Amino acid sequence: MHQQLQNLKNEALALIMQAENPQELEDIRIRYLGKKGRLNEIASAFGNLASDEKITIGRQFNNVKDAISDALNSSKFSSANTQVAIIVDPTLPGIQPQVGHLHPVTQAISEISSVFEKIGFTRVRYPEVEWDWYAFTALNMSQDHPARDDWETFFIDTPEDPKLGKMILTPHTSNGQVREMLRIKKPPVRMVNIAKCYRRQSDVSHVPMFHQFEGLVVDENITIVHLKGTIDHFVKNFFGPNRKSRLRPYHFQFTEPSFEIDVTCDICDGTAFLPDKSPCRLCKEGWLELGGAGMVHPEVLKAVKIDSQKYTGFAFGWGVERSYMMKSGIKVDDIRLLYGNDIRFLNQF
Ligand code: FA5
Repeated sequence: MHQQLQNLKNEALALIMQAENPQELEDIRIRYLGKKGRLNEIASAFGNLASDEKITIGRQFNNVKDAISDALNSSKFSSANTQVAIIVDPTLPGIQPQVGHLHPVTQAISEISSVFEKIGFTRVRYPEVEWDWYAFTALNMSQDHPARDDWETFFIDTPEDPKLGKMILTPHTSNGQVREMLRIKKPPVRMVNIAKCYRRQSDVSHVPMFHQFEGLVVDENITIVHLKGTIDHFVKNFFGPNRKSRLRPYHFQFTEPSFEIDVTCDICDGTAFLPDKSPCRLCKEGWLELGGAGMVHPEVLKAVKIDSQKYTGFAFGWGVERSYMMKSGIKVDDIRLLYGNDIRFLNQF
């Protein structure tokens, strides 16, 4: 057995020296030191040895085992000695981190601001949690006026203010008219208030939270011609030179005369029908209502203590989301998609 161990050691060391890759080295380790390897085969015969032989052969066995182990570990193919070469090519383009972008409604708001700022309007933003007085009473809608129902308002569950009434979520941005005239005190006033509005509504053209932009100009000799010119400026710059707008007679308590403003629908190109001859589900007869407008009612000027004999003004309030949907080429035919939080939808804009 002494000779057998000696031979086994020589054989293993010779093979280790000749190994040409890590896999060969691993095979040698298994063949000699593995559970069913050659060394253990010899060890299984220890039981037949006399007890004094067991001591000397046992010692030799351990020496052979250590020698093979050491040789395996010091081989250039042992995992301890294998070095992985990491090649870095600094000329390769880096991995672009994902970059987000502004929500389409935010993009629309900044574009709308800049269209109006170019013709001298000042961008303002007034509260979206507001007192009834600013949103209704000062706008010529007394406490029980039925016109208030049109705004499907959310009320806040807080105590009423004795002068300003209930606290509400603004159903329109027209509270900004009142607040701006009270702030400026003496015309000229030329503002665009862009803020969130809230109403109990939801369908293809209504969402419960949306944005409006409210324009207001008050000065001496302001006429309806200024209103029409301002609307034309906006339509041309925001929707493109080929789109048409129209003023339709309407009624608002805070303007007289009053209008609703429609633009030709971009989904059906103003035809009311889609290419497959089905009716357009967004607009009415090729026109989509985007907002209201009119000449500021003398009662509103009176509420904010501006002389209605000397000054006149016009105002308009449009939906931001609906205006964005009608931009040429956008082709969104359901307003709720804008707030669906679907990244695949938002990434297109
Ligand atoms: C008003 O809110 C008036 N304050 C507009 C106004 C201002 C008239 C100044 C005269 C002078 P109306 O309720 O029609 O009007 O809303 C105006 C626009 O807001 C609508 O044409 C539409 O574009 C948008 N809008 C209204 N409700 C919703 C809604 N639930 N979801 C999305 N957009 C809406």
